[in-house]
Amino acid sequence: LLSAVAGPLCAMVTVSSPQAVLEVGFSVEGGQPRYTVSRLGETVIRPSRLGLQFADAPGLDTGLAIIGSATRAVDETWTQPWGESEKVRNHYNELRVDLGRDGATLLSVVFRVYDSGLGFRYEVPADAGHAKRSISNELTEFALGGDHQAWWTGAYLPNRYEYLYRHTPLSAIWKADTPLTMKTDSGLYLSLHEAALVDYAAMTLENIGDNTLKADLIPWSDGARVKTEGAFVTPWRTLEVADTAVGLIAASDLILNLNEPNRLGDAAWIEPGKYVGVWWEMHIRQSTWASGPRHGANTANVKRYIDFAAKYGFKGVLVEGWNVGWDGDWIANSELFNFTLPYPDYDFDELARYARAKGVRIIGHHETSGGIGNYEAQLEPAMKFMADHGVRAIKTGYVKQNGQIPRVDDTGKTVHEWQHGQFMVRHYQKVIEAAARQHIAINTHEPIKDTGLRRTWPNWMSREGARGQEYNAWSDGNGPAHTATLPFTRLLSGPMDFTPGIFDLGSEVARRERNIPTTLAKQLALYVVIYSPLQMAADLPENYEAKPAAFQFIRDVPADWAETRALAGEIGEYVVIARRDRASPDWYLGALTNAHGRLLSVPLGFLESGRRYRAQLYRDGLVAHWDKNPESVLIETRELGSQDLLQLRLAPGGGAAIRFVPIDPE
Ligand code: NOJ
Repeated sequence: LLSAVAGPLCAMVTVSSPQAVLEVGFSVEGGQPRYTVSRLGETVIRPSRLGLQFADAPGLDTGLAIIGSATRAVDETWTQPWGESEKVRNHYNELRVDLGRDGATLLSVVFRVYDSGLGFRYEVPADAGHAKRSISNELTEFALGGDHQAWWTGAYLPNRYEYLYRHTPLSAIWKADTPLTMKTDSGLYLSLHEAALVDYAAMTLENIGDNTLKADLIPWSDGARVKTEGAFVTPWRTLEVADTAVGLIAASDLILNLNEPNRLGDAAWIEPGKYVGVWWEMHIRQSTWASGPRHGANTANVKRYIDFAAKYGFKGVLVEGWNVGWDGDWIANSELFNFTLPYPDYDFDELARYARAKGVRIIGHHETSGGIGNYEAQLEPAMKFMADHGVRAIKTGYVKQNGQIPRVDDTGKTVHEWQHGQFMVRHYQKVIEAAARQHIAINTHEPIKDTGLRRTWPNWMSREGARGQEYNAWSDGNGPAHTATLPFTRLLSGPMDFTPGIFDLGSEVARRERNIPTTLAKQLALYVVIYSPLQMAADLPENYEAKPAAFQFIRDVPADWAETRALAGEIGEYVVIARRDRASPDWYLGALTNAHGRLLSVPLGFLESGRRYRAQLYRDGLVAHWDKNPESVLIETRELGSQDLLQLRLAPGGGAAIRFVPIDPE
C-alpha cells in the first residue's frame, strides 16, 4: 500500500489510504513541492503547490529537493471522555517527506491518509540564522477537478462566521472560511478544513482562478501572517472525500484524529449536559442584560430558573448580564466589563448556595466584547471567582465587528486585529488553559472555528461559530434551509451551541416579532441533529410548561453519545441522524427538512437486532408548516425493531424526533 520510493534523485513519492481508496502523490518539480490526490483513480486534487514564504528569512517554497521520506501505518482506537461517539478509530497511512538544500532538512511535509480523507502539515525545524520568522505567505493550494458546487460563507466579513451559507459554483468564491463543502459533477462530496489550529492564523481559502483555492492566512494588523519562533508545525490542512453527503459527517472524525491526545489527564470533572438560562428573554427583549428595572439576572429571576432546572432535570442554568459592564454601549465599552463584580441585585453567594442545594450548577458568562486586554488582565481571578461559586462551565463571548479587536502593540499604540488571526488564536487558547486550571469547561461564542482541539483540551466543550437560534429572535431569521445545511458544513468541524428548543412559535407576538422558520417537531429534531455536549433548552420556562408532552423529549434526550450514525441527507435539503445514548441502550433519531416537505423511508437497521423498542415519536401534525402552522405536532408511541422501515412525513420546514427505548431486558 505504501509505495514510497525516494532518494536524492527520485522526486516522486506516493502513499495510499489503508484500503487504497485515496492516493496522495508528492513530487518536487523545478525545486517546488507539489501534491495530488485521487480517489479510486479519479482526480480530486490536481498538482497543487506547497510551501511557505517568510518576510524575513529564505522561503521554503522553491529550490528544494527531497532529502528522504518515511512511511508508517497506524490503526488505533481511542476513547472520548464525552462526544458524539465513545470510540474513535484512527486508521491511516502516513508519509513524511523531508525537503531541503545541500542535504539539510529545512521543511518536512507530513501526510496522513485515511480512506475518507487526509490531512497534511508542514513541520519546520529551527533555522539557526533566523530565530524568529514571520510567515508572509502559505502557498498551499487545492487545485480542484472542476467548477464544483460549493457551500460556503465569505471570510473577513463583519459578523465573523455568522452568515447564511451561499450555494454557488466554486468559481463564485472570493475568500471563504472553512469548513468549505463541495460537490463534484461526478457525485463526490468534499470538505476542506483544518485541524489543530494552535499558535497560527486561521486559514481562509482564496479563489485564485482555474478552480483553484489557495490558503490565505488571516494577517496581523502589521501584515505578518504568522509570527514564529524556532521550530514550528502548522495546523493540518484537511480534505474529506465521500460519495454521499452524510459520508462527510462520518469522515469528520478525521479532524479529531489529527489532534494530539488529551493533555488534561483526568477529565471526569468535565460534565456534558443540558442547560436552561436567563438568555432568550433578553434576545426577545423581555428583559435586559443592563442593570435597571428590567434586569434579567436578578436573584429572584435566577432562582426561578434554578427551580425549573431542578424540577425537570437540567444540570445547568446560564446567567447572562450578571456582572458590571453591560450598561451603555457594551460592544464599544469592552474595558468596562468586570468579571468579579456582580450587579447588586445578583446575589451570587446566595445563588451558588441555592443552586447547590437543588443539585444544579450556574453556568457562568464572560462577555468580553472583544476587550482582550481587559479580559486577560482579569483572567485568573475571573476563573477563580466562578469556581468559588461552584461554576463548572462558562460561556464566553466576543461580540465585536471582525477586524476591530483592539490590541496595544509594542510601541503602546492601539491597533485592530481580526477575530481569527494568530493573536486571537493565542487568546482563545489562553482562556481554555486558564479555565482548565480551575476545572472549568468553556463554551465559546464568537469563537475561532473548531479544529478538533477538544481532543487535547476536553474542557473546550462547545462553541458557536455560525448563525445560531438567536438570529431567529431579532433578524429576518435563518430560513428553513439553514439547519439542513449546518450538518454538512459548520458541524463537520465539531459541536455547536446552537441553542435549540424554542416552543413559542405560533403566538401572536412570536409571529409578529420573530422569524423562527421551523415547526415544533423540527425544534426537537435539532437536539439530535446538532451535536453539543452542552445543549440548551433555550425557551422560557413558561413556554415549556405550556407544552409538557413535547417538552418530554427535551427532558429525555441526552447530550452525550455512545455512537452516531448519519443515515441520510443532502446538503441544504434534509438530514436524518441517529445516536445512541452513552448512559443507556436508548437510541434517538432526528430528521429535519428545508422548506420542502418530504416523505422519508428510514431503515431502522441501527437498532440492536432481535430487540423490540418502544418508539416515542414527535412529528409534524398533518397541518404543520413552518410558516402557516408551526406548532402542530403529533406525539405517539409505536413498537418497532431493526427490521422495520419507518415512513417519516416531514412538513415543509418540519422535522421529527424519536426516542427508542428497548422493551425487553437484554
Ligand atoms: C452573542 C452570543 O451568541 C449570545 O448568545 C449572547 O447572548 C450575546 N452575545 C451576549 O453576550
